[in-house]
Amino acid sequence: MTTTTTSTRTPAEPKGSVGSAHTRVEGRDKVTGTARYAGDIPFADLAYGWLVLSTVARGRVSSVETAPVLEMPGVLEVLHHGNAPRVDRDFNGLMGVPPDPTTGLFQDDRVPHMGWPVALVVAETPEQAREAAETLVVNYEAEPHDVDFSGARPDAYALDGHMPAVTEKGDLEEQLAASAVVVDAEYTTPEEHHSMMEPHAATARWDGGRLDVLDSNQGATWVQNDLAKLFSLDPGAVRVRSEHIGGGFGSKGLRAHQVAAVMAATVLQRPVRVTMTRRQMFSLAGYRSPTTQRVRLGADADGRLRALEHDSLNLTSSVHEYVEPSAGVARVMYDADAHRTVNRVVRLDVPTPTWMRAPGEAPGSFALESALDELAEKCGIDPIELRVRNDPERGPVSGLPFAGRNLVACFREGARRFGWADRDPRPGLRRDGRWLLGTGTAAASFFAGAGPSTARVTAEADGTFTVRIAASDLGTGARTALALVAADALGVPADRIRMHIGDSDFGPAMIAGGSMGTRSWAWAITAAAGELRERLALSGDVPPEGITVRSDTTEAVRALAQKERHSFGAQFAEVAVDPATGEVRVRRMLGIFAAGRIINPLTARSQLVGGMIWGISMALHEEAVRDSGSGGLVGADLAGYHVAANADVALVEADWIDDPDPEDPVGIKGIGEVGIVGAAAAIANAVWHATGVRHRHLPIRPDRVL
Ligand code: MOS
Repeated sequence: MTTTTTSTRTPAEPKGSVGSAHTRVEGRDKVTGTARYAGDIPFADLAYGWLVLSTVARGRVSSVETAPVLEMPGVLEVLHHGNAPRVDRDFNGLMGVPPDPTTGLFQDDRVPHMGWPVALVVAETPEQAREAAETLVVNYEAEPHDVDFSGARPDAYALDGHMPAVTEKGDLEEQLAASAVVVDAEYTTPEEHHSMMEPHAATARWDGGRLDVLDSNQGATWVQNDLAKLFSLDPGAVRVRSEHIGGGFGSKGLRAHQVAAVMAATVLQRPVRVTMTRRQMFSLAGYRSPTTQRVRLGADADGRLRALEHDSLNLTSSVHEYVEPSAGVARVMYDADAHRTVNRVVRLDVPTPTWMRAPGEAPGSFALESALDELAEKCGIDPIELRVRNDPERGPVSGLPFAGRNLVACFREGARRFGWADRDPRPGLRRDGRWLLGTGTAAASFFAGAGPSTARVTAEADGTFTVRIAASDLGTGARTALALVAADALGVPADRIRMHIGDSDFGPAMIAGGSMGTRSWAWAITAAAGELRERLALSGDVPPEGITVRSDTTEAVRALAQKERHSFGAQFAEVAVDPATGEVRVRRMLGIFAAGRIINPLTARSQLVGGMIWGISMALHEEAVRDSGSGGLVGADLAGYHVAANADVALVEADWIDDPDPEDPVGIKGIGEVGIVGAAAAIANAVWHATGVRHRHLPIRPDRVL
């Protein structure tokens, strides 16, 4: 049975809407089926496209036998590299990086990995399209492929992503040699997939000279901008709408389905829908790269760090450089006299990885926070006390002051609530029947920033207010949080606010990503609402068309002081391990976060608990296995790829301490990703405490426990 409790102390005097619990404003629409998702919206004359993916891991397409398929019932078109519209792939998209290579659909005959899109079959019904797609014969000239990822790759190289590949300070070897205690360990995390509930879906149509795309994405203006560039269109000629979204987790940017739908809609001059299947998502939707990480810690006998090295390797594809910056977390968490971090990649014949919830921090914290636990054991120091002793005054690498850290406060509060004080640090001593019991802890952090956004707020003649912003609500409750922010900024009850989001026609806005969505959008809404409120104070008269104020936070966001700005947290886990079967059960988890002002405790708790549950999943279940023979995944579906289910989740509690960001108009930092960070390490550390055995390779499967 799943039990999540609600126990946050409510602020002494809740003022206004922000900070009080509200159910989702679109909740009724969702549970009654009125809310429509991109794959549900009906259109007259709608045609359906079905992607055909390569069955070899490297080579070229020698021929596509379209003729027999074009004779099949309902089939309208088969697009492939020989006949598809040309696109411009040579650009950096709105996020400053080139679009995922699978979006350059059907531009040449190269096949860089298993599951690469090689054709699109379009038909009158999805069933006809699928039947034809499964019948379509594609011939390949296969070439030898290389999909073997390991830490021993000589062809690995350091790669900058959104952060420098390497940071170095001091003489690492010298400090290690001078250390009384050294931990030197390799940790690995497997390939992981964000198979969100709603698969990627897009419907594209030409509407009076404008391209209209109904899509499931994390940023309508992001997809609009990138589609416009890809098809050499004026951005104003492209409209992307994304009203309801069933999960994103970093995977829902521009991907093959939107491009395929636009190509087919252009060729056929009718609306075309393309939906990824669950299986197709495993090669088209991006994923988290496996990592091999080496952490070296050197400390004095009292646990003070002299040396900290975190070296991470991830894979990327042969057609795109993606770095999972797992060593980045060490740049924020702990200082040492000598400090070195490096993110490296190796290029293989595999699909391109992408952002997946807490990219970098999720696998990086598993390695770093496990190593800290090993150091605590070797020093004979309590793991929390070790972290307190090494809590830095300033960013260990940046030297910048923290915009609030409060990590120690999270540990203190968590320790009190979890009952840490009674813990016997020795491993392998506690039993409950056949189960060995243990507890563990780990720290969490995730970058907190803001991106430029525009918003429009309208005072309507009937006394209500309409907010328009190209925000995306991935299911997190962003729409509701923004309504609460708008209500307080306008000084009215939340039920007077009408939210319109997910439409690129509302103007540029930050994506729902990097834990920055709600903060960025709330900033723009607060700015517009504040100005509107002033105008209404001057003249209470609202004309029939209303009064609209538009904001643009580009300058304000740019002026944000340079600080080490992060959300932090302390994760606690209690596990039971059956030494006879190797089964690990997580009995309870507690996460205490310092993550800025919390807008809506109801949905915020759900989001943090969701991250922690994902940590259970990461620790114990998730693992995509690539077969070196075929170059494809084994069991690429939710039967073969295990995720934590209800029965795997007992008591999970998330709570927070007061931690408003004084430089944010609303005090927000961001909670989108920090919930998963450190969760797997806390569980792995608890498994050690239960059994006396360190688990440095995820997931902690029964066969690894035995
Ligand atoms: Mo988040 S991985 O930036 O959607």
